[in-house]
Amino acid sequence: ATLTVNASLASARRIPDTLFGIFFEEINHAGAGGLWAELVSNRGFEAGGPNTPSNIDPWSIIGNETYINVVTDRTSIFERNKVALRLEVLCDSTCPADGVGVYNPGFWGMNIEQGKKYKVVFYARSTGPLNLTVSLTGSNGVGSLASTVITGSASDFSNWTKVETVLEAKATNGNSRLQLTTTTKGVVWLDQVSAMPLDTYKGHGFRNDLFQMVADMKPSFIRFPGGCFVEGDYLRNAFRWKASVGPWEERPGHFGDVWKYWTDDGLGYYEFLQLSEDLGALPIWVFNNGVSHNDEVDTSSVLPFVQEALDGLEFARGDPTSKWGSLRAAMGHPEPFNLKYVAVGNEDCGKKNYRGNYLRFYSAIRHAYPDIQIISNCDGSSTPLDHPADLYDYHIYTSANDMFSKSTAFNRVTRNGPKAFVSEYAVTGNDAGQGSLLAALAEAGFLIGIEKNSDIVNMASYAPLFVNANDRRWNPDAIVFNSFQHYGTPSYWMQLFFSESNGATLLNSSLQATGSNSLIASAITWQNSADKKTYIRIKAVNFGASAVNLKISFNELDPNSLQSSGSSKTVLTSPNLMDENSFLQPKKVAPINSLLQNVGKDMSVTVPPHSFTSLDLLKE
Ligand code: AHR
Repeated sequence: ATLTVNASLASARRIPDTLFGIFFEEINHAGAGGLWAELVSNRGFEAGGPNTPSNIDPWSIIGNETYINVVTDRTSIFERNKVALRLEVLCDSTCPADGVGVYNPGFWGMNIEQGKKYKVVFYARSTGPLNLTVSLTGSNGVGSLASTVITGSASDFSNWTKVETVLEAKATNGNSRLQLTTTTKGVVWLDQVSAMPLDTYKGHGFRNDLFQMVADMKPSFIRFPGGCFVEGDYLRNAFRWKASVGPWEERPGHFGDVWKYWTDDGLGYYEFLQLSEDLGALPIWVFNNGVSHNDEVDTSSVLPFVQEALDGLEFARGDPTSKWGSLRAAMGHPEPFNLKYVAVGNEDCGKKNYRGNYLRFYSAIRHAYPDIQIISNCDGSSTPLDHPADLYDYHIYTSANDMFSKSTAFNRVTRNGPKAFVSEYAVTGNDAGQGSLLAALAEAGFLIGIEKNSDIVNMASYAPLFVNANDRRWNPDAIVFNSFQHYGTPSYWMQLFFSESNGATLLNSSLQATGSNSLIASAITWQNSADKKTYIRIKAVNFGASAVNLKISFNELDPNSLQSSGSSKTVLTSPNLMDENSFLQPKKVAPINSLLQNVGKDMSVTVPPHSFTSLDLLKE
């Protein structure tokens, strides 16, 4: 096969700065019990909703009914989350030696690390003196990693009182729990119990290792917070931004009924905007447009949803003296966030009221914020949109062969309408398992096609980004983690090959591969911000089972301008197409980098079977 690359910029085209980003959905405990570092699950005992008795899961009681009686009631001081936990301690010196109380195992175990500090905050009230041991222990309550005793007279705790303490761990255990225990007879109420590592990204609450995995992708944008999570199976369970901002203790939390778990909404709208800023990525806010999976608001009644969206924009961008901008400022960010993109709903185009509702959002936002780019759920790639939009959403989940063949999906799409946002793509089903090499190769072929069509496709993101291995609601996902470990699937590593493409220059290239349509290749040139040097990157996917000898021939290039020294080759492959990574073998399928020899105007490389190869050629 021969790849002919025209190195002249005259025939080249700039790739949008925004092309490759990420889509973060609260699915698979991606945020709660994932990127959001809060260790306590169901910190306000609200998971069962507003009624009592409530669902306190995963909290459990320490001590049997001879010693302690635990119920929920509605005596919390927090108006939006009234449920509190009432512990009636029936024993004193007769209590078991370790006391009685409750424990929280976090999200399948808390990761506590030796030498690190954890801030524990809770609210308490009692009928008598308080003597409460706060401890981090092993999963069965044995082995104290850190503990402190909180004491107070009856008058100190006769009203709800906030308690804050910092625990320093003296040992490491990835499967720890937080205990609150006592041997003092009387009644104690607890509410809003939080345990946060002090060591989070910039102190912003993001788990460092998972944040770094995302930062390494150099995403140009982050679409959030869903997905179906935004829609809900029913509107009453949809993510609504106003319930996710303000002091964390006052957030009601909600049950995400599509992915079937409770979130305390510590990772709320503000934190998503902060995450975007920390990643240097443009936020793309997806909001509910009055449509869920099973119910819809009529267009004639959608105004409150439109106002909610406008208020959300004011929260993100408004003056710090404005109503919602002042809440943002009070939360610690007086400067506006750089919110320039919104998506009206998720996958709702086929719904009865979508178009009517969409138009209400479109005109209100266009009027109030003319610079905001508005994304429609309707796919404009096959037929032109019948409504105004700046971009349209395009989602694709399919088999490996189909995904690979979709590298040409945008070749014939009209260039006149709105731009495409491929906001969710992935190989799924048997070809993907929990993240196979096969899936990654097919997706790489698809993305090379996207890159070549980046005059019309302005953004693309894989989905889903994260999975907590203890709650696989969707397979596959790009980053797999538990309380203390993580790894990238082959699809994660594949995406890193595209990190330099944002804002790069796409060189005109053509591939001649006689008798084979299993090879796809492209060429870009870009300046590396780290070494300030200019490179040409050739990417080639070999989807076939035989090695290919690829000749690369450059036109309009000074024969001496490419350097062997400083040039390198990176290959993603593995002996078996269905190979996956795992906690035991996190880099079984990962890119391998080596030096490249014989670089020149006419050069050739062997592209291994079933591989994705990137050649980085240093230009003088
Ligand atoms: O990425 C998982 C789900 O797939 C998203 O929530 C939804 O938009 C799509 O159906």
